[in-house]
Amino acid sequence: MRLGVLGGGQLGRMLALAGYPLGLTFRFFDTVSDACAGQVGDLVTGSFDDPQAVSDFAEGLDVITYEWENVPVDAVRLLAERVPVFPPPEALEVAQDRLAEKHFFQQLGIPTPAFEAIDSLDALQGAVQRLGLPAVLKTRREGYDGKGQRIIRAAGEIEPGWEDLGNRGPLILEQFVSFEREVSIIAARGRDGDCAFYPLVQNTHTSGILSRSVAPAPDVRNGLQRTAEDYGRSVVERLAYAGVLAIEFFVSEGRLLANELAPRVHNSGHWTIEGAETSQFENHVRAVAGLPLGSTAMRGQAAVLNLIGATPDGSDVLAIPNAHLHLYGKSPRPGRKLGHVTVRSDGAGEVEAAVEQVQALIRAQGGSSL
Ligand SMILES: Nc1ncnc2c1ncn2[C@@H]1O[C@H](COP(=O)(O)OP(=O)(O)O)[C@@H](O)[C@H]1O
Ligand SMILES: [Mg+2]
Repeated sequence: MRLGVLGGGQLGRMLALAGYPLGLTFRFFDTVSDACAGQVGDLVTGSFDDPQAVSDFAEGLDVITYEWENVPVDAVRLLAERVPVFPPPEALEVAQDRLAEKHFFQQLGIPTPAFEAIDSLDALQGAVQRLGLPAVLKTRREGYDGKGQRIIRAAGEIEPGWEDLGNRGPLILEQFVSFEREVSIIAARGRDGDCAFYPLVQNTHTSGILSRSVAPAPDVRNGLQRTAEDYGRSVVERLAYAGVLAIEFFVSEGRLLANELAPRVHNSGHWTIEGAETSQFENHVRAVAGLPLGSTAMRGQAAVLNLIGATPDGSDVLAIPNAHLHLYGKSPRPGRKLGHVTVRSDGAGEVEAAVEQVQALIRAQGGSSL
């Protein structure tokens, strides 16, 4: 079976690394010729609105998926007329617009932070009156890793906020949630409708970028896991989904508030490569290829540290017991995700000890992750 992947970043690369043992082959589409998935599969480069390039990519594929959230939905719908596309384009459409995404959660009865659509300075001033401060002003589209958003803490920051973001398309204002912690759930749904969930993971962001995930999230009441799975199930069923999907939540006063969803494999699921019976990448590939899902059961405890901007010496990382190194084959640039280290062990204490050591290496080497 030949799988096409829209986007050729590290997520696509890890999809291919999981899919080859199942007998699948991979072709990627990206706008840049040095996309790192090109090191492990065919890479077609071009613009998503170039019908010829997209058509060359689709030639001979059995199924198409995506690893990048901002693929133009029109291009995906066009492709879907020719080759089956999973997850369905509707999932992409919802996830690309923070306002549509919040409305979607509301329709399913999933709580979110209070929010308002913003299309003028007046609207922003009115929304601040109603939602209160601090609040977070975000572009509705194309934000990632904390880009395209700023916190408004005082009335004097309203105008500068509008000046900064107002010319970048429509915006959304959200109440600032003083959360106890951030968690995410990863759901997998097969083409036959079978669903599976990984345990809730606790996430730490540094400057808006995910720096660390711990699996399972410590001290999770059984009820919280069940609620997250209920929310996950209603999302994937409403979308008639196939593939892996992540939902990020704030935990506030012990309750889950949905922040955003990602219709793809997710950084907070990287631990599953070593830490689960079947990784998120393998389950995504299985799902979109119409194969049975694999068990999501955990193999011990795990933590992931992202390598952002710079990478420590590989042999130093590998000398740490229980540490596993994943480099993405990308050239270093400040703020860029270059790889991750997973620590996995049967004991939480061992995981913590190894995480300390990995962190020390990252710090010593000047990486910006922690
Ligand atoms: N309404 C909010 N209240 C508090 N913190 C927020 C809020 N929105 C975003 N953040 C912080 O910023 C991070 C990135 O925001 P998010 O909306 O998830 O955008 P991105 O697409 O960049 O991941 C969140 O994980 C959280 O730490
Ligand atoms: Mg996020």
